[in-house]
Amino acid sequence: MSNLRLEHITFYYDNEQDVPTINDISFSVEEGEYVSLIGKNGSGKSTLAKIIAGLIPEPDDGIIYLDDQEITESMKREKIGIVFQNPDNQFIGATVRDDIAFGLENKQIPTSEMEPIVLKYATLVGMNEFLDKEPSSLSGGQKQRVALAGVLAMAPEIIILDESTAMLDPKGKREIISLIHRLRKENPKLTIISITHDVEEAYLSSRVIVLNDGKIIMDDIPEKVFSNEKELENLGLDIPFFLKLKNELISLGIDVGNISKLEDLEDYLCR
Ligand SMILES: Nc1ncnc2c1ncn2[C@@H]1O[C@H](COP(=O)(O)OP(=O)(O)OP(=O)(O)O)[C@@H](O)[C@H]1O
Ligand SMILES: [Mg+2]
Repeated sequence: MSNLRLEHITFYYDNEQDVPTINDISFSVEEGEYVSLIGKNGSGKSTLAKIIAGLIPEPDDGIIYLDDQEITESMKREKIGIVFQNPDNQFIGATVRDDIAFGLENKQIPTSEMEPIVLKYATLVGMNEFLDKEPSSLSGGQKQRVALAGVLAMAPEIIILDESTAMLDPKGKREIISLIHRLRKENPKLTIISITHDVEEAYLSSRVIVLNDGKIIMDDIPEKVFSNEKELENLGLDIPFFLKLKNELISLGIDVGNISKLEDLEDYLCR
């Protein structure tokens, strides 16, 4: 059970900056939430993720709490897993197997228990046939899958995914997104914070936070956030196809009622 709370987090990469990269951010995430973090390039998403996961250990201001306790470095290591935007920065092991096992070694899981765990997560991400390969020999999408397996194997309470489906082909993307949904079903306490440029993916999460210039400018359920089409467009952000289509139909005077899924809209139009 993990309830994450950020209070007034501010961070500058260097003291020449007039405006901080993360500018007085406060929000909390309840256990079991699936939060999407969206925003244009350079808005501060990865920086915020690194602060939460402890890769940037000391922000210039603010406090992070986990279950109402000020978070420590060891709590971050133990309870929070992050899949980096660039998976190359994530690999340590000589083989895919070693790499997925690496975190388990740190957790002092006995070697005899490691193999089935490694196999389980490699299989979940579809990389079980690559266990003896060198991580550097993999494609970008395969690296993202292995990085995800390594994090899942650690069984963290909070998983931060920094554009971790960006390099996947459409089928791979669907597989990984459905894996995330399946993991949440199996473990309703698992918290996911997913940074993504894919608004279709964000639409399927339980909450969307929009970051701009290091500040939170929207934080609501996907339907509410994506109803701000013009405002998002001004920020260079898109809205899901379904909502675009629905808005277009409404503007043509077609009454689409309270249909909330693309399939239902298609059915309705066919009828
Ligand atoms: N190591 C660093 N040193 C100095 N400035 C940095 C560093 N990393 C990022 N920045 C700057 O901080 C700002 C936020 O970067 P960040 O990587 O958090 O953005 P992002 O929202 O993740 O963008 P993207 O969508 O491109 O991944 C950018 O202006 C970037 O240039
Ligand atoms: Mg980023």
